[in-house]
Amino acid sequence: MTIEQKAHIAEFLDLASAYLRSGYKRQSTDDKSAAPVAVEPAAPQAPLPESQLEAIAPPDTHIAGISNDEAGMDTLEAIAADIAACAACPLHATRTNTVPGEGVSSPLVLVIGEGPGENEDKSGRPFVGEAGQLLDKMLASINLSRGENSFIANVVKCRPPHNRDPLPEEIAACAPFLTRQIALLKPRVILCAGRVATQTLVKTTNSIKNLHGHFIECAQIPFFPMYHPSALLHDPSLKRPSWDDLKTLRVRLEKLAALKV
Ligand code: URA
Repeated sequence: MTIEQKAHIAEFLDLASAYLRSGYKRQSTDDKSAAPVAVEPAAPQAPLPESQLEAIAPPDTHIAGISNDEAGMDTLEAIAADIAACAACPLHATRTNTVPGEGVSSPLVLVIGEGPGENEDKSGRPFVGEAGQLLDKMLASINLSRGENSFIANVVKCRPPHNRDPLPEEIAACAPFLTRQIALLKPRVILCAGRVATQTLVKTTNSIKNLHGHFIECAQIPFFPMYHPSALLHDPSLKRPSWDDLKTLRVRLEKLAALKV
């Protein structure tokens, strides 16, 4: 990973600090000063080396300069309410429901997908369609679930029409919600599900084919890119490498002594 990419991830996480310090609850959701994620493409990079099994910060450690007191001012309910009221990008006009995410409040793993699809838009819940059912099975295979030790969210919280990729300006408008979620949840690992989540969080144009299965160590929380479950539904040959990736993730979680498997 380049220094530039590391700086981007640190910046991404630092955004939460700015929000918490500036009284985000009083900000208008269309405050353009509050949408700072840059999405300009980075130079392509070579495949990453094998993951480094470094210890990461314990759960009560500050994330990117956010004190526990500051993060403690925020709540999942407040974030969901702000998302429900958001009209910062055109996606608000076509949504049925916002999809803030769901799971436990102190997750081992935060799964970040790309954005709600039709089923998610109808239900207001993340990953409930066919891809979501596969995701649940994949997580269950390494003793993870949204009910017990994980949280599932998306880069954008409203459905892009016809399931197209979210646009850079839509991602930027929604980024403050994700940074607040990361700051509040303090996951041990962030699982980037698919190309859009990975390229957004890692700020790279490198392919998910190159990035999947490698930990990207940064800003106290390691990122772990994987193929999106819907890619596995379209291309079953991705199931084997995805299973290998799940095993890599499980080894990491075992090393953190955070999960008994
Ligand atoms: N795909 C995603 O990326 N997110 C969802 O919530 C559902 C499908």
